[in-house]
Amino acid sequence: MNTFDENDQRNHPRPDDSEFGLMVNTLLSRRQLLGAAGAGMGLFLGGQGLVQAATTANTTASNVGPRIGFTPIAANSLDTVTVPAGYQWRVLASWGDAILPGGTTFDPATRGTAISQSFSIGDNNDGMSFFSLGADHAVIAVNNEYANYEYLFVSGRCSSIEDTRKAQAAHGVSVFEVRRIGGVWKLQPQARLNRRITANTEMRLSGPAAGSALLKTQADPTGTVVLGTFNNCANGRTPWGTYLTCEENFNGYFGSAESLPENAAFKRYGISAKGAGINWHPFDGRFDLAKNPNEPNRFGWVVEIDPMDPTSTPIKRTALGRVKHENAEVVVNADGHVVVYMGDDEKGEHIYKFVSAQKFNAKNLQANRDLLDEGTLYVARFTTVDGKAQGEGEWLELTHGKNGLTAEAGFKDQADVLVHTRLAATVVGATTMDRPEWIAAHPTQAQVYVTLTNNTDRGMKPNQAVNGPNPRAKNVYGQIVRWTPKGYDHTSNQFTWDIFALAGNPILHKDAYAGSANITPENMFNSPDGLAFDRDGRLWIETDGDYSNANAFAGMGNNQMLCANPVTGDIKRFLVGPVGCEITGIAFTADQKTMFVGIQHPGEKLTPSHFPHGGDAVPRSSIVAVSRRDGGVVGA
Ligand code: FEO
Ligand code: CA
Ligand code: CA
Repeated sequence: MNTFDENDQRNHPRPDDSEFGLMVNTLLSRRQLLGAAGAGMGLFLGGQGLVQAATTANTTASNVGPRIGFTPIAANSLDTVTVPAGYQWRVLASWGDAILPGGTTFDPATRGTAISQSFSIGDNNDGMSFFSLGADHAVIAVNNEYANYEYLFVSGRCSSIEDTRKAQAAHGVSVFEVRRIGGVWKLQPQARLNRRITANTEMRLSGPAAGSALLKTQADPTGTVVLGTFNNCANGRTPWGTYLTCEENFNGYFGSAESLPENAAFKRYGISAKGAGINWHPFDGRFDLAKNPNEPNRFGWVVEIDPMDPTSTPIKRTALGRVKHENAEVVVNADGHVVVYMGDDEKGEHIYKFVSAQKFNAKNLQANRDLLDEGTLYVARFTTVDGKAQGEGEWLELTHGKNGLTAEAGFKDQADVLVHTRLAATVVGATTMDRPEWIAAHPTQAQVYVTLTNNTDRGMKPNQAVNGPNPRAKNVYGQIVRWTPKGYDHTSNQFTWDIFALAGNPILHKDAYAGSANITPENMFNSPDGLAFDRDGRLWIETDGDYSNANAFAGMGNNQMLCANPVTGDIKRFLVGPVGCEITGIAFTADQKTMFVGIQHPGEKLTPSHFPHGGDAVPRSSIVAVSRRDGGVVGA
C-alpha cells in the first residue's frame, strides 16, 4: 500500500531535452547510455525534494537512497540457493506439501494423485503476499502458475481425466498459515485459514463485463459464474487486506480437435485449436474451443481473494481488463482513489492503469470490497523521439464511446472493450512494449518502475520499431523503465519517464547491448521480471532469463535476485537460485527481518537439479525464507 500527501510533494523537475536528451537514430551507444544513467541520476538529485519531503519515516532515504548493506555475491551455476555472507536461507514450503486435512506426504514415486494434489501446495509458486496476524503469525497466499509435466507426471504427459484433474489441482493459489517458532518461520499444516484454490474452484465474475454475452457458456447462461483460475503469474495486495492473483498465459489451456473459424480476438490472444501442449481439452470439454468458444473469455482477469475467509468466493474483477496479466500494483493516491498498475506480458503488448471511481475508506475496510468493480481503465502511450532515453507519456482512456472505441470499430459496449482489452489498446494508440512484467510503486514517492523482460521481435516487426523505452532491436537482455505521474498524482493522465537500467553484457559488448552505466561485469543479469520495493525503498529485482551462462549470457549464471538503489542506480546481486529455476515471488514479514523468495521450476526441461533436497530427489518448486544471521533488516 502506498499513500501520498500531495502537500508534501514539490513540483517534479521536467526532463530538459537540451540537458538530458540523447539523440541517436537507431540504437543508443554505450557512451550515450552512460549519459542516460547520469541523466536519470541528475533527474533525481535535482528533485531531492521528492525524497526529503516524502511522507516517510525512513530518515535514511535522502539523496543517497536507502542503505544496501550486504556484500554482493558472484554469479554461479550451482544447484543451490546462494546468499551474501551473514545471511541464511531455509525452505518454508514446496510443491506437494500437504496443507489440508486428508493431505499426505509428497510421494516422489508417484508425485501424488488428483486428490492428494488438491490437499497440497500447487506447482510453480509465483507471486505471493504475506498478511500479518501478529508478530509471529501470518497467512501467505501464493500463486501456483503452471505445472511442470516432466515432474508432475511420471510419464511426463497429461493423458487421462485423472491426469487432467491432477494438473488442474496443481494450478491456482495456495493459502496457508505460518508461525515464527524459535526464530524460524514454519508452515502450519491444517491451520484454519489454509485453502487450495484450483482450476476448478467456483468464482464470480463482477464489474462491467459480468453477464456479457461474451462471457456466457452452456454451463453458465448468466455469464457470472466461472470455475477456477490458472496460469496465475504475479500478484497484488490491497490496502483492505485482500489478495490479487493475475491470470497470465490462459490461452494455451484451450484447444480443439476441430478446426476453428477465423477470430481476430483469438488470434491477438494466441488462442488456437493447437493449444500449448497442456492437453486438458481432450478430457475436459470445458477447454474444447469448438464446444465452448466463450470459455477463454472467462480467463485473463485479475481475481480478488479474501485470505482471511477460506469459504469466500474469489471474484474476477473485469473492470481491470483482460490481458495476459503479470502483477497488479495497488497504490492509494493522495486523494484516496485507488490506482492499479498492470503489465501485459507478451512481445509488443502494453502497460495499463485502473483508477477507481470511489475513494479508499481507511476507517471501514469492508467498505472497500467492491472498489475494483467501478472505475476507468487506461493504457500507456510513451511519447518517444528517436534515440531519447527519457520523455513524456500519457494514459489513454479505454472507455466505450471515447478514443474511437465505437460500434463501428467493433466495440458494442464496455464489456466488449474489457473482454478485448488488447484490441482496444491498439485502437487508441498504445505503445508496444518489450514484454511488460512486474510493476512496482515506490513506497513513499510517486514513482513507478516496470520490468520489460526482453523482446526478440523488437525492430523485427512493423508494429515494433525501436522506440524510447524499448531502445534495442532483438532485445535479449531487457530493461527497467520508470515514470513519475504529473504532479505526483497517480490519477493524472500525464507522466514523465526514463530508463533506470538497461540490462546487458558489458564484457561481450561495447554498444547498447553492454547495458546502461549501472550494469557491470559484477552485477550483470538478463530478463528482469519480478520487481518489488521494500518498506525502505530498496528495489528488489528477480530474473527469469537465460541461465545457460554461455554466449550472450556468459558470466550471468543462474537466475537471480538483485537489489537496487533507485536514487543512485547502484545494483548489487543478492541471491542466486539453483539450476533451471526462475526467481519469482517476494514478500516480507512486517519487521522486514525475513524475506520470502520463490524458487520456481528448479530443473525445468530436465536440467540437472535436485533442489531443494539434493541427492537424486525430484526437484520441487519452493518458497525459501531468507534472513540475516544477526537478526537485522534484510538488505540494510
Ligand atoms: Fe508468469 Fe510474465 O511471467
Ligand atoms: Ca513473470
Ligand atoms: Ca518472465
